[in-house]
Amino acid sequence: MSEKLAQWIRNSRKVVLLTGAGMSTESGIPDFRSSSGWWKQINPHDVATIEALENNYSLFHQFYSYRLTALASCEPHIGHQILAKWESKNIIDFVATQNVDGLHQKAGSQNVSELHGSIQAIRCHQCGTEATKDEFLEEKACTACGGRLRPSVVLFGEMLPENSWKRALTTMEQADLVIVIGTSLQVYPVNQLPYITKGRTVIINNEKTQSDANFDLCIHGSAKEILVQTNNLLEQGGLS
Ligand code: APR
Repeated sequence: MSEKLAQWIRNSRKVVLLTGAGMSTESGIPDFRSSSGWWKQINPHDVATIEALENNYSLFHQFYSYRLTALASCEPHIGHQILAKWESKNIIDFVATQNVDGLHQKAGSQNVSELHGSIQAIRCHQCGTEATKDEFLEEKACTACGGRLRPSVVLFGEMLPENSWKRALTTMEQADLVIVIGTSLQVYPVNQLPYITKGRTVIINNEKTQSDANFDLCIHGSAKEILVQTNNLLEQGGLS
């Protein structure tokens, strides 16, 4: 299967990636909907909504503080590093990610759109003033207006960052190969992106998704291992 993926990458002009939480589990970050995912332990409505932020700030703060603190000891894995290398060698053009952990950028990827925002960027929910991670972790109030601090992640029901979304739309329209890695494609509107391209589509996931049949190629397995295998094949062919 990786042979076909490597061949399609070699023969493509504009390769665009869409990644999800399954791209980060091998860096120690839980995903959301697999058997060990966050939403199997806690109801997303209780922590990842504006209602949670406004009506149950202590649980909201506990959830995001835990994730932010845990992230400090997580590093990109070789799969992230391979994508960054492929970008530097113009093998791929762009990564649209649903992940808020910043691991693609930490691995060196530069053309990245964070479609669900970033947990690393803190702002006041009321006035939008930027704040530090420490101020959030210490449950400080906004220094400008006294409002509640929050990570700049997209909560359920919120709009996606306009520029990130527009960049992802444009690159998907121009792509002749879209590779989706580690996402259940359950969340709208990101789950519509792969269908925008007129090119080929590939999904890499360690378990079946409801969308598998919509893709030209479906590879079940570990994101990290499949990226390593594909990179080895590209190197053998002198491309990577
Ligand atoms: N390799 C490949 N696939 C993996 C791996 C791995 N190492 N680990 C997990 N997966 C798969 C899981 O089996 C699952 O199908 O990745 C998929 C992750 O799906 P979700 O947990 O639903 O995460 P994601 O699709 O990114 O969620 C989208 O939902 O809750 C919101 O804002 C949150 O951005 C998130 C959005």
